[in-house]
Formats: sequence, C-alpha cells, structure tokens
Amino acid sequence: MYLRCSDERCSTKLELHQRALACPRCGDLLEVAAGPLMFSPQVLKELWWNRHSSRDPRDRSGVWRFREFLPDYPPQDIVTMGEGNVPLVPGIKSAGWAGLSGIRFKHLGWNPTACFKDLGMTVGVTEAKFQGARTVACASTGNTAGSMAAYAARAGMTARVYLPAGAVSPNKVAQALDYGAEIVEVEGSFDRALATVLREAGSEIYFLNSINPFRLEGQKTVMFELLEELGWRSPDYIVVPGGNLGNTAAFGKAFMELQGAGLIDKVPRLVVVQAEGANPLVRTWREGSDELLAVKEPRTAATAIRIGAPVSWKKALKVLRFTGGRAIDVTDDEIAEAKSVIGRDGIGCEPASATTLAGARKLVREGAIGRDSNVVAILTGHVLKDTDYIIRSRYTSAVIRTSAEVQAD
Ligand code: F0G
Repeated sequence: MYLRCSDERCSTKLELHQRALACPRCGDLLEVAAGPLMFSPQVLKELWWNRHSSRDPRDRSGVWRFREFLPDYPPQDIVTMGEGNVPLVPGIKSAGWAGLSGIRFKHLGWNPTACFKDLGMTVGVTEAKFQGARTVACASTGNTAGSMAAYAARAGMTARVYLPAGAVSPNKVAQALDYGAEIVEVEGSFDRALATVLREAGSEIYFLNSINPFRLEGQKTVMFELLEELGWRSPDYIVVPGGNLGNTAAFGKAFMELQGAGLIDKVPRLVVVQAEGANPLVRTWREGSDELLAVKEPRTAATAIRIGAPVSWKKALKVLRFTGGRAIDVTDDEIAEAKSVIGRDGIGCEPASATTLAGARKLVREGAIGRDSNVVAILTGHVLKDTDYIIRSRYTSAVIRTSAEVQAD
C-alpha cells in the first residue's frame, strides 16, 4: 500500500507512512492506494463471515474485520474498541412519512462514542501511534473531537480539539472533556477552526481531520459491513448527510474497491443531503461548477454539519458522478420534522442525521425515488448527542404535560 494524490492527472505516489496532508506536487488531498488483491470474492466473503465467531479483537471490530482492505499493523498496536457491528433497523413510521414502502437505517450513532467517527478514528489513531505521535489534533463541530479524544486516551496520547466557540452541542463538549481533551475555542465557524489547526499543526502534532486518508480507510468499512449484511446485494440508494464530506468520499472509495474486487455487481446511488443554510456541495453540484461554491457564513441548527467549505468536495463530486448519485438540501424545519419521526420509530438520532430521511422524502415527492425503491439511510449520531436541540424544539413542548393535565383527561 502507498499514498497517492487523489487527482488522477497528478497521481503522485508517496510512501504509506509519510507524514503529509496534501500532495507535495499539486496540493490536492491524498488517498491510500493498494496493488492488485490476491483473493477471490468468494474467499473474502467466507473469511469475513467466519471472523464473526472469532475472539481476536481485530475480528470483533467492524472495521478491522475487513483488514485485507486496510493498512497492515502489528495486531498489538491496533487501537480498537470493537467499533462497527451496528444493526440495520427498519423505520416503520419513517418509511410512511417519506412515502416509501420501506426504509432501513444503518445507525452509526450506536458506536463507542455514539457517532460514525469511531470507524475512522480506530485507523487514524492506530496510524498516529505507529508513527510515534504524542499529541493528536483536530478541528470539529463536536463529534470528531469526542471520538478522537477517546481513541487518543486509549493510546496514551494528548488530544487537542479546536471547536467553533458557542456552536457545538454541550453534550459533545462534555464528552471531549470527559475523555481528557484539551479544548481550544475558535471564534467563527468550523472552517475557521480548521484553518487555525492546520496553521498550528507542526511536526510534533499528528493531524486527524478527514483530510487524513487513514481516517477515510476506516470509514469506508461502513459500506463493507452494510453490504455483507445485505448479502452483497446493493440497495438502490444510500442516503448520507454531508458536512466536510469525509463519509461521502470514503463510501465512494468503498464502492470502487468492492466493485473492483468483484464483491458487488451494482454500485448503489449515493445521495448526499446538506442543510439549506450550509449547502456548498449542493450549490457546486447544481451549477456543475469545477470550483467549490463555498458558503461564507453557514447556518443551520444541525450544528454538526454547519460547514461552508468542505475539504473533500472534489472527492465528493467524483463519487456522485461514479455512483450516479446527487446532492440535495433540506430546510431546518424539514430536518426537525424528520428527526421527530425517527424518534417516534424508537430509533432517534442527532439533527444532522435526520437530513437523510428529510432528503429521501424530498426525492420521493419529486418523483426521483420510486415508492418501492430499496433505500438505506445512514444515521451518523446518537439521539443524546444534542439534547438541547430536542428540548428547544417546538414538537417536544406538545408532548410534555403535567400530571394534573393527565389526570384531567
Ligand atoms: N453527521 C454528523 C453527526 C457529524 O458529526 C458530521 C460531521 C456529519 C454528519 C458530516 O459528515 O463531514 O463526513 O460529511 N462532523 C464533523 C465533526 C465535521 O467535526 O464532528 P462528513
């Protein structure tokens, strides 16, 4: 395996463990690349399935179980908490609300730190440890911060997180504090926090935003686990929220690799959903622009995806083209309504995750998705990640009643 520039016109190659965040020649993002695989699809399917009954900590992880597609590390150096292995749950009321005959949720909020970031962090922090890093850093709207802090704590490293001041759910700040992170507050949006950490990350600090290609390697295994669960039959659509677009890039990479290895015949269409007030990918996609149409002051109550200049936008555009997918946006009111419906299904999620159901409904209403399509929505964060949002929301006030009111009924 090696690192490669993600712009195929450049394709500069670097040694796998070289400490670089961008291509030294053209400045584009890097990705992990591998030579031809030595396994047949059948052998891989059986190998991975058999690992379900193994006691090896790597096999208990929904990430490292697929290690034939990951960088290789000595087993004792892998920093894992058994991440992944989250169920695929049907949403009954959610399907009805969206106008679908069925919808299934892959709930990545049911991971060790209650969000999808753990899947990438297990690989990112393992690489940091392999490189001998003592301090890891990231900018974050909250979830990356908590996840990085937890995995860094497991690896005995210092975690420094840069948060947009006053724009992160208190639950997420609390989580990062509990795992012992150093917190740096930055005035302005996430984009500003990211620019700050990039300026400050010197050679002694290992950087763990999704620019880091090792994180995306972990996140891509979500699609390996999902497709295994579906008997290697691709759904018609996979719907995912879009913020910094790391997941979008990672899922697209997974589809390319799975198809290349003969594990799937059909590539699912990827639908990326952003909030209307923080929709740079949607603008760029709609205009067919080759330049990012950034949003200067992103606004949405779904703070996890309040991002105006996503780093992985070029990778995301490629993924949309490759999968025949699209980027759409939804309003904050639609997100709130979708979130309450997912809650009524007994599943729950944080606001950013609810963009998926709101987006699915929008596409059904437009006639772009048929009622009987096979749709999987990716829920990225747990319902308890942003409790202030729930308490503040209008719909809850309608169901909170005093005991006197109940007795009067
Ligand atoms: N959903 C949740 C709950 C998130 O926390 C994020 C991103 C996204 C969706 C978007 O994912 O960036 O891969 O497109 N959160 C980052 C953070 C930015 O700092 O926690 P993406």
